[in-house]
Amino acid sequence: MTILCTPSQPGDDLVVALGTGVLTAATLPRVRELLEQLPAERLVVVGPEIAFEEAAGFATDLRLTRPLVGVVAIRPVLDVETYAYAMQAGIRELVATGDLPGLADACRRSRRLSESILLPAEAATASEAKVITVFSAKGGCGKTTLATNLAVTLHANGARRVCLVDLDLAFGDIAISLQLEPRRTLVDAVAMGENMDATGVAGLLTSFRPGLECVLAPVEPGDAEKLPAAVIDDLLGVLRGMFDYVVVDTPPQFNEHVLRALDGSDHHVLLTTPDLAAMKNLRLTLDMLDLLSYPKATRSIVLNREDDRVGITAGDVEQALRSQLAARIPNNLEVAASFNRGVPIAAEKPSHRVSVAIQKFGALRMDGPQVPQVQTPKAPPRRWRAVGSRSGRGA
Ligand SMILES: Nc1ncnc2c1ncn2[C@@H]1O[C@H](COP(=O)(O)OP(=O)(O)OP(=O)(O)O)[C@@H](O)[C@H]1O
Ligand SMILES: [Mg+2]
Repeated sequence: MTILCTPSQPGDDLVVALGTGVLTAATLPRVRELLEQLPAERLVVVGPEIAFEEAAGFATDLRLTRPLVGVVAIRPVLDVETYAYAMQAGIRELVATGDLPGLADACRRSRRLSESILLPAEAATASEAKVITVFSAKGGCGKTTLATNLAVTLHANGARRVCLVDLDLAFGDIAISLQLEPRRTLVDAVAMGENMDATGVAGLLTSFRPGLECVLAPVEPGDAEKLPAAVIDDLLGVLRGMFDYVVVDTPPQFNEHVLRALDGSDHHVLLTTPDLAAMKNLRLTLDMLDLLSYPKATRSIVLNREDDRVGITAGDVEQALRSQLAARIPNNLEVAASFNRGVPIAAEKPSHRVSVAIQKFGALRMDGPQVPQVQTPKAPPRRWRAVGSRSGRGA
């Protein structure tokens, strides 16, 4: 069922776009009455004849009283100001007058969000999400690959609600790697200011699968600079109440946004590949995290692209980093092939050895008990003693 607010008689094509079971109300006060009679209703579409300020006020009220009800507004003109105003008010979707396929899509997205997102009002007994940030200071180690595949693994075909956040603000790859259209991105969160809540954040999400939602990175050049780092604290705080897991992908450098994400995380997944540059950068990262007093127990060190042929073994990596590996992910061409097809390997080929390694890691480190980090006592072999000593602490 959908409630359509319009003073005029809706055309058949509009009713078809809204799906089966449309109830029409001439005014927003009448919509309020209908909502009181229909506690399970999840969607209100506001026609272009209704003043936008009135629609915005209605959406703002609903985000408090009925946060699961999505508001989709049809407007004759869609510009940046209208989007910003709508976002602030908590209108989930804006659609141009006459764009019936766009309207059908917007309604579908809004319904799906209402169904798949656990909002605090309905989740009194649910626990908060675990927030996991995936980081490596060297580019190309596989952060995006691991973050997307970990999200798929934790989602477990819909058994859990997972949100994947692309914090690589300038060069985010989540949208392209999952072939998602970035209609809403992190930069839209700025318009919410201090009013960020589950309803507003629901409007930022792009769905990969029901229950596996993404907050995509900005696409326009310069958008990244518009995002104050404090937005990350608010966003992660709100997402905690909406999902079971939040997985954050990051750029390959420490910046204010990354530090906020690390602060707001329960778990840090730190990646290296079997090469000296990546290992040296991870060694420095570990020192930096120690300096910032992040507990070691919240860390998992993962070796990605493990390959017998490169001459650096998992044992070598453990010695150089003076830390135990929580997971070893094989180097395999299928990973890149899946990435290029827009379906993470864990979704496409769950029994592939790369998928199995990520599943085991997810099950052990994210679901199960924490494994204490064991310091490896032996000195590292001579060839990468430099990796440890560059940190200034010796190897
Ligand atoms: N285990 C693996 N086996 C083979 N190829 C892999 C593996 N993991 C990642 N790759 C490939 O390595 C490349 C870089 O991976 P990815 O984009 O995930 O790295 P990243 O750390 O996110 O990079 P950036 O720092 O640029 O964001 C991609 O082409 C990806 O398909
Ligand atoms: Mg990346």
